[in-house]
Amino acid sequence: MLKILSSSLAVSLRRTNLITPRIAQRVAISLISLPLIRYSLKTLNLNDVYEIETQDDLQEGEMREVQVGPNKEDAVLVFKFDGQIYCVLNSCPHVGASLSAGFLVGDKVKCSFHNISFFVKDDYHEEEPMFKGLQTFPVKQENGLLKIRIQKELLNAPGTLNMVTTKDNPYHVVIIGGGVSGQSAAETLRQARFTGKITMITAENSLPYDRTFMSKIPFLVKLQDLQIREQQFYDQYGIDVLVNKFVDSIDTKNKQVHIGNEKINYDKLLIATGGSARKPPLAGVDLKNVHTLRQFNGVEAIREKAKSAQNIVIVGASFIGMEIASAIKKELKDQVNVTVVDNTSVPFEKVLGTEVGASLQKLHQENGVEFELSVGVKRFAGRKDSVQRVDLLNGKSLLADLVILGTGIQPNNQLGQGQLITSKYGGIFTDQFFKVAPHVYAFGDVANNPNFIIYQNVRFEHYNEAVKQGQIAALNIQGIKTPVSMSDVPFFWTRQWDKTLSYSGVGEGFDEVIIDGDLKKLKFIAYYAKNGSIVASASMNIPNVLAQFDLRLK
Ligand SMILES: Cc1cc2nc3c(=O)[nH]c(=O)nc-3n(C[C@H](O)[C@H](O)[C@H](O)COP(=O)(O)OP(=O)(O)OC[C@H]3O[C@@H](n4cnc5c(N)ncnc54)[C@H](O)[C@@H]3O)c2cc1C
Ligand code: FES
Repeated sequence: MLKILSSSLAVSLRRTNLITPRIAQRVAISLISLPLIRYSLKTLNLNDVYEIETQDDLQEGEMREVQVGPNKEDAVLVFKFDGQIYCVLNSCPHVGASLSAGFLVGDKVKCSFHNISFFVKDDYHEEEPMFKGLQTFPVKQENGLLKIRIQKELLNAPGTLNMVTTKDNPYHVVIIGGGVSGQSAAETLRQARFTGKITMITAENSLPYDRTFMSKIPFLVKLQDLQIREQQFYDQYGIDVLVNKFVDSIDTKNKQVHIGNEKINYDKLLIATGGSARKPPLAGVDLKNVHTLRQFNGVEAIREKAKSAQNIVIVGASFIGMEIASAIKKELKDQVNVTVVDNTSVPFEKVLGTEVGASLQKLHQENGVEFELSVGVKRFAGRKDSVQRVDLLNGKSLLADLVILGTGIQPNNQLGQGQLITSKYGGIFTDQFFKVAPHVYAFGDVANNPNFIIYQNVRFEHYNEAVKQGQIAALNIQGIKTPVSMSDVPFFWTRQWDKTLSYSGVGEGFDEVIIDGDLKKLKFIAYYAKNGSIVASASMNIPNVLAQFDLRLK
């Protein structure tokens, strides 16, 4: 079955303008290598180590899951690349998915869950896009057997990332922005042996955190759990994080950033200012209980009010809106009416098309979410400063004691205005190294960078891209010339009603959708084509093969 799938996908992939036959073949090979045998020939359960033996018969490009302990997650993955055997922990250090369900491309293991790659050989940050390393274990080949010795404590631990600390080097890198892209740049600098000073400035009152869980599990998230690192990490690696500080302006001539009257000199400036939630310019948008969901205080306000609300209206049927609709309805069930309003005819219409959008709408409707589609909002109305009603352009009014705006983001490119080139689509224009001016780089959600799928500049709002772009900019600063890769396929995911949709590519302006699989069962892969070439794909319950190319193939 998998073989049939892989060869049909390989054929489909050859139709793309992304993938050469050689690469398509590699996809097919790695898919074929997916079926895994969870076996070990012998396991010795010693005091604090396991000693495992398994047959030394792996084929090139094959991977095998080997159970090492009593718990399901006590497993490792062995695989062969270029005649060499590698062994890594099977549990993905991101949120624990089994890597054996992922892909092997060369010496890289790619988790199928959120598309993070682990480059097992390299000694600095090449696993992407993550802030935890993957545990690797030495393998001995003896008498036709693979012998692996594992400290038990390492089965639950992330691998260490190899970073340097600061020395007496006054060279100063200033990062504006405390999101994941800024964090990624700071860490990559330390991994790439940068020993100068790093200052990260953030307008938020917290250390950098991961926003992606806020709309998926709003009732569970705690700020300290979302924070990527604790203060101790920043102290250890000499990264000064200035919280609650807003950079008003930059002076690229004198190489300074300005925070009120304070001036900070830089040698290199990294702009990682991301985006802010966009509020539609409608009457009543500033009423109490009309919230956006970009910062942690947004999720706190939403969950607090949601618990006592009877009618929640969500404006925007795209990713943030639909994720929060699912999360709230799942948690509060019949206690609350949840209605999603959008002027498109189905949710996700612009990104996923009408067929996929309609099937996801059905999933939400079956779970009690209501929709008002093909209609815009006229105004938000209320009394005593609090929202009470959402008036639609078709004359209908919806009761609302909480409104959530999932109406997109506005890139925070104000700092660049007048000095750097900003795009009419938003964002700061960069070259393929994320450079925007001498000594100045921009990346993450604020950057408008070249993309080799559509051969034009584009601005992403994807977690993986933000982290990866921060890495690339940092490597360039450190003199390791690294352009955006030709084989780099952007990726994002969304999760609704416990189902994950993976999306890879750049589907903007697609003119054809080819669907493989069964939309009714939500087991499908949709390919998006533009002018006859496949430019993106979205999948649910089927591996998203295009996503594998989110690798810097060497
Ligand atoms: C609720 C939610 C769910 C998401 N889910 C997903 C998902 O499932 N999959 C996915 O791929 N992506 C998802 N995303 C998108 C992803 O989180 C972003 O792409 C990513 O956060 C971008 O990181 P960034 O560092 O570029 O920008 P940001 O995260 O926006 O960080 C920018 C930082 O810069 C600071 N800043 C801005 N201007 C200034 C200034 N002048 N002075 C000082 N500081 C400043 C801001 O305060 C902020 O701390 C989600 C986003 C949200 C909000
Ligand atoms: S669990 Fe592996 S990438 Fe998220």
